[in-house]
Amino acid sequence: MKVDVVLGLQWGDEGKGKIVDVLAKGYPVVARFQGGPNAGHSLHFEDKKFVLHTIPSGVFRKGTLNIIGNGVVIDPIIFREECLQIETNGVPVRERIQISKKAHLILPSHRIIDAASEASKGASKIGSTLKGIGPTYMDKTGRNGLRVGDILADNFLERFGSLKSKHISFLKQFDYTYDINEREAEWLEAIEYLKGFNLVDGEYLINGLLAENKRVLAEGAQGSLLDVDFGSYPFVTSSTTTCAGACTGLGVSPSKIGVVSGIFKAYCTRVGSGPFPTELNDHTGEELRRLGFEFGATTGRPRRTGWLDLVALKYAIMINGVEQLIMMKSDVMDTFDTIKVATGYLVDGAESNEVPFDTFAEVEPVYKEFKGWKRDLTKITEESDLPFEFMTYVRFIEKETGVPIKIISVGPDRDQTIFR
Ligand code: GDP
Ligand code: IMO
Ligand code: MG
Repeated sequence: MKVDVVLGLQWGDEGKGKIVDVLAKGYPVVARFQGGPNAGHSLHFEDKKFVLHTIPSGVFRKGTLNIIGNGVVIDPIIFREECLQIETNGVPVRERIQISKKAHLILPSHRIIDAASEASKGASKIGSTLKGIGPTYMDKTGRNGLRVGDILADNFLERFGSLKSKHISFLKQFDYTYDINEREAEWLEAIEYLKGFNLVDGEYLINGLLAENKRVLAEGAQGSLLDVDFGSYPFVTSSTTTCAGACTGLGVSPSKIGVVSGIFKAYCTRVGSGPFPTELNDHTGEELRRLGFEFGATTGRPRRTGWLDLVALKYAIMINGVEQLIMMKSDVMDTFDTIKVATGYLVDGAESNEVPFDTFAEVEPVYKEFKGWKRDLTKITEESDLPFEFMTYVRFIEKETGVPIKIISVGPDRDQTIFR
């Protein structure tokens, strides 16, 4: 068997949590491969809503094993909070979750460095979620990090103290006031909680499951336009959010990657700083935010909104080798008279179909207009009932990208999902 991958093609918040929860019904294994508590994946079912940050979105499915891969960074405090919340809803978390020993730990001091670094950048800040993601991945690649497996070692506290001291030295460059001990006691308690889980060699576990013919669904966090290499650098996150991240973040060979599904919203959103060519700073943008309830699932910040950008979407499809698309939140535009889609960029007066290297370059989107469908999509369950104008929009995206849209989501609930 192979690892099927579901990942976001825009700037995150495409609806990955919802779709992974829906698809997890057919997968005995779901695995997160990168990111950490910067992610907020929302799930709605049976009139309940959950937001997951570290835990894979298959956790509510009985019989599905959820693996937190080596590519993920874990804040034990946030992980414990998530577990306790879903446990009170009857989910046996210790049975359903296993954690790679090679996943890195977010220390309280990583969060302080994140905040100090952002504060020092002033107006050019990244707009980080301040969860310590960047500093933790810096320590990983800088070969200073602490991993989940390390918590079992006798000298763990010593190593924790040593990394904390390094962070105190590093923080001297910033003019930033902090309390290094804030959260420390709670963090150490949460480390004890973490010890109650199955801490595993994730790469052996996953390859073993594949050898036993078990289907694995890899769940991405963030989106391709936030990828550390291919996103709008430096306004990106610090991990590989693209398909290659599933290999490095789980320990599977590229030859073991199966179907790659790319998720996108029928429009665009972005939270945090950085370029956003199709951004709408007008009434339509406000309507997208209001009707789509576009506020960060992790930070509560209002999300920036704009029209669908096909140049960026095609770029993300290319980088990831996307074979099928999943379109989310079309229902948000149910009342719109007109819908626009960017089909190209004007760069220095010439039309281009490529994302420019210099993401600060002034690009002006070239738009194609569509007539709105002006119908409520949220109760539709069959493709044949979808309005003609809506299907015109869908077919145009399929034609431009050359990739079929296999799932259309028409609301946040599990049941508001149309398979084609
Ligand atoms: P993720 O980070 O990719 O999992 O996405 P988020 O959970 O951060 O944001 C997606 C938001 O849209 C959540 O509030 C979902 O409940 C909601 N959502 C998902 N699919 C749909 C849909 O098709 N229509 C509407 N109206 N909301 C949706
Ligand atoms: P999910 O998985 C949307 C954004 C932040 C910021 C940049 C860097 O829910 O789609 P970081 O905290 O990683 O250093 O922030 O990336 N960002 C996200 N935006 N959805 C996310 O996750 C995000 N995770 C990080 O807003 O611009
Ligand atoms: Mg989110």
